[in-house]
Amino acid sequence: MIVVTGATGTVGSKVVVGLRERGREVRALVRAGSAGPAEWDAAVERVAADFADPASLDAALAGADTVYLLVAVHPEMAQHERNVIDAAVRTGRRPRIVLHAAAGVEHRPEGVRFVGAHVAGLDHLKASGLPWTVLAPNGFHQNFLGSAATVRAGQLAAPGGEGAVSYVDARDVAAAAVEVLAGTGHEGAVYTLTGPASLTHGEVAEQLAAAAGHPVAYTALTPETALEGLLGLGWNPWRAEGMVELYGLYAAGHASAVSPDVEKPTGRPPRSFAEFAAEHADAFRA
Ligand SMILES: NC(=O)c1ccc[n+]([C@@H]2O[C@H](COP(=O)([O-])OP(=O)(O)OC[C@H]3O[C@@H](n4cnc5c(N)ncnc54)[C@H](OP(=O)(O)O)[C@@H]3O)[C@@H](O)[C@H]2O)c1
Repeated sequence: MIVVTGATGTVGSKVVVGLRERGREVRALVRAGSAGPAEWDAAVERVAADFADPASLDAALAGADTVYLLVAVHPEMAQHERNVIDAAVRTGRRPRIVLHAAAGVEHRPEGVRFVGAHVAGLDHLKASGLPWTVLAPNGFHQNFLGSAATVRAGQLAAPGGEGAVSYVDARDVAAAAVEVLAGTGHEGAVYTLTGPASLTHGEVAEQLAAAAGHPVAYTALTPETALEGLLGLGWNPWRAEGMVELYGLYAAGHASAVSPDVEKPTGRPPRSFAEFAAEHADAFRA
């Protein structure tokens, strides 16, 4: 039985659907009161648990053979990953853990808290003695849906400088996860999941403009201006600072490498940003 954590989110919800399409027995970890997305079939076992509550994780992981470990971005996200790993150890069944981390995790970048949390989780996983595989995606295409309102107004503003990023579609991340979870032979592998090309944010703006049918101008924000903007939007400071750190990595070109790893487990190339933008043109069109 495969337990999926983060199951109601962008990637996890698609992982649950993909595993069910393959007829796999799936237990989805949801938060109390959540029924899960409408596209899940009735055979998906829903178990209420919280990453901060070890007893609830014990119940959620009982009987698991494989665990998809995806935690949300949160100040305690490293501890949340450790909590799930510890609960997996306590099952006594040595379930295989497929850790959803972030691109660059194996390079241990300093000063990027979101990636640093996954570094801590991976260290804990390796020390646990459980069999593991890591999925390390780059930034998701879907993140740009969060900027749709400004794109509709002809603007894309980010502290990404002129650095290129090999953004990946969350659907390809989920597809790779399904293959790894349902298959065998991935033990000890780190799959860096990227799109097929690396784009500067100026090029992202051009592709959004092509899809939307109107000009979209990219403005490279300073880290200070970006932070002020996010805080002004009501972002939690920890998350806002983390986002600016991540864009610092992008601006420095450290997220530009293109990897063949989506194709390794899925057998097909990843979607391009242009395909994503065209499919979501209505969201970006004024
Ligand atoms: N976005 C990117 O560009 C990107 C790139 C690389 C890596 N990542 C990594 O991907 C992960 C986020 O993936 P995502 O975007 O698919 O996540 P998401 O859409 O934000 O969903 C988070 C999931 O975690 C659940 N959750 C939140 N807090 C919880 C708690 N305390 N206990 C139990 N469940 C909880 C949420 O449940 P509810 O629905 O109840 O809130 C939801 O199912 C992070 O680890 C991030 O570092 C993201």
